[in-house]
Amino acid sequence: ESKNLSVDHRLTEVCELLEKNIPYYDWVGFYFKNGDKNELKLRAFAGEPTDHDIIPFGKGICGQVAVTNKNFVVPDVKAQDNYIACSIYVKAEIVVPLFVNGENIGQIDIDSHTADPFSKEDELFLEFVNGEIAKILG
Ligand code: SME
Repeated sequence: ESKNLSVDHRLTEVCELLEKNIPYYDWVGFYFKNGDKNELKLRAFAGEPTDHDIIPFGKGICGQVAVTNKNFVVPDVKAQDNYIACSIYVKAEIVVPLFVNGENIGQIDIDSHTADPFSKEDELFLEFVNGEIAKILG
């Protein structure tokens, strides 16, 4: 309802802010666990639309993070065998889980057209962003 609409709007604004301002962030999205289903659902994004708005737990980089609860930094997507390609231009990806009250409820996912662009600073920054998002989801 209206509270969710405004949260979705704010999530989209965060995606747009990151995608516009960080040159090597080419696609930015938030996936959330989808109710009782063992899958993630895309809730907000900036960049090219993707066909992968539903991702089963365990599948791809995102689906793996849904079960490991750990950051996943992929310097070269071609070196991954459990990977879901969204665009032929993507060279690297980072996924950082989003915790509310200690529970992994979703994640921020970023694709890059630059090879090996992500550092520890990106991880720390995205953990901070997710912490702020956790406050508005509360
Ligand atoms: N590459 C992801 C799928 C989501 S798209 O990047 C938007 C994965 O392997 O889980």
